[in-house]
Amino acid sequence: MNNLLINQTKDEANVGEAYRLAEQKASQYFSKLTQQLLNHSHVDELKEDFRIWQKKHIHRFSWLSWFAGKRKPDTRNIQKYIHWLNATSKLDDYLDRSISYIYMRDLGQALDNPKTQNHIRRIAEDTKTYFMRTASKQQGQADYISPAALYRWGQREQIEEAVIWVLDKLKHVAANIPKELDAAQAQRKLIKIILGVVLHVHDEFTEETPQKERSERLDAAIRLGYSYGLTYPFVDDLLDSQALTIQEKEQYSAMIQQALLTGIVPELGEWKGPKLEVIRYVHSELREAFDYIRNYQREEMRRTFFEQSYVFFQSQETDRSKNLSNAHYTNEELYIPIIIKSASSRLIVRSVLSAPEDEGFDLRTFHYGIYNQLADDFADMFDDLQDEAVTPYTYYLKYRDLRPDLINPYELYWAVISYLIHDVYYSNEKAREVILDRAINGLKRCRERLGQVKYDEVMSIFASGQPELNDVVQQMVRKADDVDFLDKLLRDQVVLQLSNDKEEKDSFRQTLQTVRERINVELQINKSAEELDMKTRLMDAANYSLQGDGKRLRPILTWVMGVQEYGLTESAIMPLLRSMEYMHTASLIFDDLPTQDNASTRRGRSTLHQVHNSATAELTGLFLIQRAIREQSTLHQFDAQTVLKLIQYSAVKAEDMCMGQAMDLGSKGKTLSLEELNTICFYKTGIAFEAALVMPAILAQVKEEEIDALKSFAYHAGIAFQIRDDLLDYGGDHRVLGKPAGQDERNNNSTFVSILGENGAQKAMWEHYCFATDALGQMPKPIPFLKHLLDYLIARER
Ligand code: IPE
Ligand code: IPE
Ligand code: MG
Ligand code: MG
Ligand code: MG
Repeated sequence: MNNLLINQTKDEANVGEAYRLAEQKASQYFSKLTQQLLNHSHVDELKEDFRIWQKKHIHRFSWLSWFAGKRKPDTRNIQKYIHWLNATSKLDDYLDRSISYIYMRDLGQALDNPKTQNHIRRIAEDTKTYFMRTASKQQGQADYISPAALYRWGQREQIEEAVIWVLDKLKHVAANIPKELDAAQAQRKLIKIILGVVLHVHDEFTEETPQKERSERLDAAIRLGYSYGLTYPFVDDLLDSQALTIQEKEQYSAMIQQALLTGIVPELGEWKGPKLEVIRYVHSELREAFDYIRNYQREEMRRTFFEQSYVFFQSQETDRSKNLSNAHYTNEELYIPIIIKSASSRLIVRSVLSAPEDEGFDLRTFHYGIYNQLADDFADMFDDLQDEAVTPYTYYLKYRDLRPDLINPYELYWAVISYLIHDVYYSNEKAREVILDRAINGLKRCRERLGQVKYDEVMSIFASGQPELNDVVQQMVRKADDVDFLDKLLRDQVVLQLSNDKEEKDSFRQTLQTVRERINVELQINKSAEELDMKTRLMDAANYSLQGDGKRLRPILTWVMGVQEYGLTESAIMPLLRSMEYMHTASLIFDDLPTQDNASTRRGRSTLHQVHNSATAELTGLFLIQRAIREQSTLHQFDAQTVLKLIQYSAVKAEDMCMGQAMDLGSKGKTLSLEELNTICFYKTGIAFEAALVMPAILAQVKEEEIDALKSFAYHAGIAFQIRDDLLDYGGDHRVLGKPAGQDERNNNSTFVSILGENGAQKAMWEHYCFATDALGQMPKPIPFLKHLLDYLIARER
């Protein structure tokens, strides 16, 4: 105990010292910048910089290209825009500029280094090839960060497990994050941080790096990136938000502080506040993350890592504690913490990775942070003002008249730019090019967002103190071209994609629930008074199985395709929906029999043969199949030929399913090849999904090509569904499943899990997921429901 205490105070002294050191450095930097502001030395430098810069960016004859029909397309359609850039010979510059920027910002590199130049060139080439190859079939529908694309990359790098892991984590974050925080933004930030860490590692590879080493390091980078990235939503954003009470925030923040001081996340202990559930999740996730990072750290790097984390956290705390109603902050109080936090957030990435110290990196990254922060805060100024957040801009907006001593953050921003170009990158031409591109791009984007009038107003507030420089800058904003950046484009795209995705997911869940309820009402088999006693007993038995808590996925799928996609009326296809579920329920009754899987529960209740006996169960199964055909024959609103075609199709598929089930039972204890596994699963399970998609297409007389794409989707989605079923049988909870777990092992069944192991089964499932996604891309138009169904199939718990 005593020992621990001594150690703790020692650590406290260490990190305290680290913070003071950071403050000292930041304050030196800040005074250099304010010096520049005072003597205006940077204004002439920047004017000269722009004079050189503009040669590449102001094109007098740009109307010519317009005339040639090559007008710049809407940048929101990435695919189109990139192809336009290529056609107008702008693509190479565009990629070079974008990737160079990432190398400066995220990797802390200098652009005059030949090795860096080489890397940038290579990545630009790869990116170009990637974009030129992916010609999307469905206009504008390409997802740039899709689970499928990520998984495919994981396959190439042999890090599938890390990809599956991180996708799962991201989903859990979104599901568990308190509603006061923005789940999509949290995911976006995490993705960005993970990418940054992965890039760091990736950049150190050479042609000679063996694949095994690549895989190991990339795997770790993904997990480290997530672990470190968690601090953004779960520390900074959470403490910024309204999700916790003031007391809760204090308790939580003390806990983080202790973790950073001791290197161990303390027990949660007694929680004094209403958000125990949230905190429990966040705490366990952070603890796991913290442990992962600590275990990865090389002994000699641990100290640096904890110091930097502490400095990062502390500067955020100081910054967070500011209040917009306080009129008395000094310039130092406003700027020093943000110089520290913006620098340390990036400096820390190397120590997360346990990478050796690199002075050049530290120097550049330290100076770079504030530039980025001032650009971001500029863009967010009005949102921040609304949230009453203190940033240099909101504070200046509020107090500039009262406080003539306040530094104008926009002027400081230009001073930083000049400092970076000349003092950090030693007037390197490329650095000037990229930094000014970015600055002008930022202003152009701002003007676009605010509109000319509001933009002019903003400029008159912030830029009027430096009229000479501002004249030049505004001229560039109006006239300069070729300042777009790929990361901005992707960011917009990802934000859009994440918010669309959320909307679509909500609507998917809604559909699943409402259609399921409607179908449940319609499934009941009605007994009429004339029916013989024995028959009503079979009907009761059938209803018993139907009333169980089934998911109704097959008829729901048919409903969505029939009603939403093909415009058939619900009442017209109701007999088909019933027939789907009758067939399926019959197959489950047979599957559970002692002669087959011998299961005692199904859909949360005893199996039919347990309640009655096998004979009754068999006869009820047969009864349900006949009832299904009877239903199909009452599809009166369709022409007879079409209905006959449907019945024939249905009968053939039912035969195939019997065969699949026979193959499954015949394979007990055998070692199957992957191909055999796929075949069995397709016949016993996939076929029913195919039928659910194809039968409404038959009724709607859809073209063969589309039916082919549906079949391909069903094949892969169906097998993925069965693999998930096998995984749940292996590791699921019988109370949630409503059927026994561990049954496959007891029966010595050959499943994806028994043959490939749990991880192998997961990978196989993801592979089918990717192929099913491809099949959706072949459809004439996107069907969001199917995309979300696929996500649901591979993640379901029951
Ligand atoms: C279970 O199907 C049989 C398999 C093909 C694995 P479901 O999981 O769709 O079962 P219910 O209809 O929801 O009970
Ligand atoms: C079922 O496969 C295939 C059928 C459609 C009958 P399983 O035997 O794995 O299904 P569960 O796990 O019993 O639902
Ligand atoms: Mg079975
Ligand atoms: Mg079974
Ligand atoms: Mg099963």
